[in-house]
Amino acid sequence: MISLTINGKTRELDSDPDTPLLWALRDELKMTGTKLGCGMALCGACTVHMNGSPVRACSLPISAAAGAKIETIEGIDSPVFHAVQQAWRELDVVQCGYCQSGQIMSATALLQGNKKPSDAQIDAAMSGNLCRCATYHRIRSAIHRAAD
Ligand code: FES
Repeated sequence: MISLTINGKTRELDSDPDTPLLWALRDELKMTGTKLGCGMALCGACTVHMNGSPVRACSLPISAAAGAKIETIEGIDSPVFHAVQQAWRELDVVQCGYCQSGQIMSATALLQGNKKPSDAQIDAAMSGNLCRCATYHRIRSAIHRAAD
């Protein structure tokens, strides 16, 4: 049995310890806000926070997440997160939307550690989150707006 703390709640999973956290979230806990893109830690669609830092849930075994504080798009709740959500809405960032929960989780992690990031810092922090609709300029603008 593996015990995970997800969005402040303890969840017990009777799964193989090597199960990727993304599978546990989506298939076992029915939390589908975190998306599967590449499944190989390359695209960022599956980004969640572990102890406040962005991690790729597709390549993180649940054994490595045990004891950590995991936050997903469904449960994260902080002033920075709400500012990011609002900026995303105001600037109409989303196109198809598939990658956006991962984008928002990475943007929130960035702003939690850096209240006024530069363009270069935003680009560096967001470089692991791919968007096939190329919403990168709007994402950068929204991060600046959320930081204001
Ligand atoms: Fe995890 Fe692409 S689905 S990085």
